Formats: sequence, C-alpha cells, structure tokens
Amino acid sequence: MGTTHGPHRVALWAGAITVGAAAALTATAPALAAPVQVAGGSLDWGFKASFRTYVSTGNGNPPIATKDGATRNSDGTFDFPVTSGTFDAAAGTAEVKYGGTVVFSYPAHLFEITVANPTLVVDGDGTGSLKADVDLEANNGTTDQHLDQAEIATLVTTAPTVDGSSISFSNLAATLTASGASAFAGFYTAGTALDPVTASASASATDPTDPTDPTDPDPTGPGTGSASQTIKAAVTGGALTLTSSGSQVALSAATPGQTATGNLNAVTVSDLRGTNSGWDLVGQVTDFTSAAGGSIPANNLGWTPSASVATSSLQSAAGVRNAVTPGSPAAPGSGLGGSKTLCKAETGSSLGSSTCGAALELGVPESSAAGEYSAVLTLTLA
Ligand code: HEM
Repeated sequence: MGTTHGPHRVALWAGAITVGAAAALTATAPALAAPVQVAGGSLDWGFKASFRTYVSTGNGNPPIATKDGATRNSDGTFDFPVTSGTFDAAAGTAEVKYGGTVVFSYPAHLFEITVANPTLVVDGDGTGSLKADVDLEANNGTTDQHLDQAEIATLVTTAPTVDGSSISFSNLAATLTASGASAFAGFYTAGTALDPVTASASASATDPTDPTDPTDPDPTGPGTGSASQTIKAAVTGGALTLTSSGSQVALSAATPGQTATGNLNAVTVSDLRGTNSGWDLVGQVTDFTSAAGGSIPANNLGWTPSASVATSSLQSAAGVRNAVTPGSPAAPGSGLGGSKTLCKAETGSSLGSSTCGAALELGVPESSAAGEYSAVLTLTLA
C-alpha cells in the first residue's frame, strides 16, 4: 500500500458506507398462521471472506472442500440444503436445520477446520443465531476440538420475505460468538464480523382454511336483511419495521487530516404494533478498510442524527401522541465504533411512522494511506 504525501495533487479519497437495515419483526401471513414443518430451502453463507482467501492461498489439497450435500457457489460462498425445521411466519420465528460440510485445510499451518450442519434460529425480536458443528484439528494432533451445534454466530434478523408457503431472509448481519471464536485457536475474537447469512425455507404443506373451523368465513351464509348496519373493524397489531431508502452512501473525497462528509439514506420506522411500547433505533459501524489493507477505525465516523414524524392526511384521536427524538450527535473520534442511538420513540408516544436520518462525518487520520475505504453501518431496531 502506498501513501500520497508530498507535493502531489490532492489524493482522491472516497468513503463508501453500506447500510444494513435490520428490524424486529412480527410479519403477518394469514396462510401460514401456525408453525409449519419445513420441506425445502437452503442457506447461503461464506463464513468469512477473508478466511476463505487466507485458506485458499495455502497448500491444502484442495484448500476448501464441500461434502455431505453442501456445494460451493460461484462467488465462493457455500450452499447448505435444508434438512428439517419449523417456522412461524406470523410470529416471525424460525428454527431451520441445513445440512452439509465445508472443510478448510491448511497443512502448512497445521490446521483443518470443518464447519457443518448450520442451523438458523430466528427469535422474532430482531435477533437470532447460527448454530453449527465446528471441528478444529491442529498442531499435528495435539489440538482436537469438536463443537456440536454450538451457537457460533449471533444474527441481526430482518422481517422474512413471505412468498406463498416460503420464507426467506437476506443478508442477515452475523457476528462471531466466544464459542465460535474458540474453534479458530485465538485467530479470531468474539465480536468479529462474519459474512452475512441468506436463507430460505418452504413449508411442506399448508392448510389455510379448515372446513370444520367455525371461525373460518362461510361464503354461503344467509343475509339478515337488516335495515341498519353496524360497522366493526378489528385493528390487529402489525409489525415494527425498518426500511431504508438506500443501501449505499458515498462520502465526499478527503485528504488525510480532513473530514469526508455525506448523509445517511433516510430510514423509516413504522410502529404498527398498536402497543405504543416505544422503540430505539441504534447504529454501529465497522472499521473502514481499503483493498490495499488500510484501516480507519470505526470511531472516526461521527454523525448528527435527525428525526421527524411521518405525517398523514388521517386524523389521530385526541390525546394520542406520536413523537420521535433524534439521538445525540457523536463527533469523529468518539463516534460509531460503539452502538449509538439514531432516533427513538418513548413508551406512550410511538404509534405510527417516523423518518430518521443523519449527517455523517468521517475524520480521516493524518496517518491514513490513500485508497477507497468502505465500512458497513448496521442499524438495529428494538
Ligand atoms: C491452529 C492453527 C491455525 C489457525 C486456526 C489459524 C487461523 C488463522 C485465521 C483465522 C487467520 C485470519 C484470516 C483472516 O481473516 O484474514 C489467520 C491468519 C494468518 N495465519 Fe493462521 N492459523 C493457524 C496457524 C498458523 C500458523 C502455524 C502460521 C504460520 C506458520 C499461520 C500464519 C498466519 C498468517 C501469516 C496469517 C495472516 C494472513 C494474512 O493476513 O494474509 N497461521 N490464521
């Protein structure tokens, strides 16, 4: 990697931020109201791109192999076919087992690591986990460790996409747990960001209407001929959702010692749960890294949050308050390396939709190498 100091023209700096939006969820899907058995689907995961790169350059024969049903995707990630499980689209929960084994071997570094049989657990509150069997055999037989369906990663889960009798999750942010880290002999620590997880599951059969169920509508029922009509509307709790108006942010160019600026894509929080129980939207960014190996610590990204209630032409009942407050500004240097509030609504004033955004400032240390840097900002709604 080279630096561009001296009397050169201004070095071109670009910061790109990818925004991963994540939300607690209660998706409604009437046809899949109860937990259903899973019959099909697959889980796509690369474990960690930098680990694949590291192992691929080694002397394994082959360095990375798949078996027991797992296959390699063209982008280098892995596909694990479904074996069993259940999901409840209405509750937004799932526990789905996938099968297959990936073997990473690096004889010159004295290790072979297998990652097998991942299980996706989605708790329905915006969190989840990935369990797997992970074996480490290293140092000529002196290290031999086996994890059996251990929780190796925590997940930030989004609402599933429901398509008929199938659900899918796309690019769930994954973070290595302490037990997952234990399989990598100290080369990774708990909290290390892993590749995002994409998974699908389809139901074995659905039975949306039951002819013997008295609550199912009867299309042949007689009319009453009444002269007056009472109109009833059941307002059922919907979802607490987060949508982002974009997934990429390009910051302005800057030279070392300067600040690159830009704006977060606006995100909309819709609290349609009807419970008025409040929510908190927090953000945290990874370190910025460049292809040449440069790094700008996450804390150098500061923001000034903004928030407003989304207006509607409908009238709210008297006394109902919907208020959203922006989080405190965080300056570059003491910014988003840790989780910070972008915006929040207190209990008692969280009915409806709000829009949140932020002005971003990336302080580029004078010691930085030139290059195109990027980081992932994850927003989590709870
Ligand atoms: C238990 C045995 C070992 C395990 C589990 C292991 C695992 C790892 C992991 C997870 C990384 C980080 C890859 C990344 O995400 O960038 C790494 C990097 C590295 N390991 Fe190992 N390793 C082992 C043994 C060794 C040995 C014996 C050597 C030296 C002979 C070695 C040399 C390196 C080097 C040089 C890097 C940095 C590679 C790079 O940044 O491109 N490792 N190792």
